Amino acid sequence: MSECNLDEEQVNRCECIGKTFTQLKTFENFEAAQATTRCGIECGGCVPYIKLMFACGETAFDIDDPRLAEYE
Ligand code: FES
Repeated sequence: MSECNLDEEQVNRCECIGKTFTQLKTFENFEAAQATTRCGIECGGCVPYIKLMFACGETAFDIDDPRLAEYE
């Protein structure tokens, strides 16, 4: 994940495709978002965050949010 340059305080986007979680949240689920935008395919670093977003509805996360363990 280090190559993603996730150096902001919170993770709120797929860096590889340049789309925020707020934008991705408009899709029905992770699979639909990925099929359309190809989010999470390039480096995969955002995948647990996007899955957590669809589960809880939040759109920004601490980089080490403990809930991520369920989605890795
Ligand atoms: S941040 Fe690399 S695939 Fe989303």
